[in-house]
Amino acid sequence: MLYVDVNYQRQGAGQLLMDWGVSKADELGYSSLIESTRSGKPLYERNGYTGERKHLAVPEKWLWRTPVQYWLMYRPARTAGKVNGVNGTNGVNSD
Ligand SMILES: CC(C)(COP(=O)(O)OP(=O)(O)OC[C@H]1O[C@@H](n2cnc3c(N)ncnc32)[C@H](O)[C@@H]1OP(=O)(O)O)[C@@H](O)C(=O)NCCC(=O)NCCS
Repeated sequence: MLYVDVNYQRQGAGQLLMDWGVSKADELGYSSLIESTRSGKPLYERNGYTGERKHLAVPEKWLWRTPVQYWLMYRPARTAGKVNGVNGTNGVNSD
C-alpha cells in the first residue's frame, strides 16, 4: 500500500517509492503483484504493471456502501532489462 499525504501528491514521492520497489524486485528477479485503487493505477501502469479490474466481495452488512473496485496488477520479473514472461503472457487472468 502506497500513500502520499494529499498536500504532497504529484511531486514525485510515489515514484521514488516505486523506484525502490521495482529495482528491488529486479535485483531479486521477482515478479510482483499489486492490488491497486483507481488513484494508484496510473503510477503502477507507468512502472510496468498491467491488470484487470476486480470487484471486491464485501460482507452483507457493508453492501450499502459504494462497491469497492480495485485492479489486480502484475509486473513480470526482469533481469538485465529482459522481461521473463510465461509464453509471452503477463500471467493475469481476465476472469
Ligand atoms: C497513488 C499515490 C501514492 C501517488 O503518489 P504521488 O507522490 O502523488 O505520485 P508521483 O508524484 O510520484 O507521480 C508519478 C507519476 O504517476 C502518475 N500519477 C500519479 N498520480 C496520478 C493521478 N492522480 N492521476 C494520473 N496520473 C498520476 C503520473 O504519471 C505521475 O507523473 P507526473 O506527475 O509527472 O504526471 C498517491 O496519489 C496516493 O497516496 N493516493 C491515495 C492512496 C492510494 O490510493 N494509494 C494507492 C493504493 S494501491
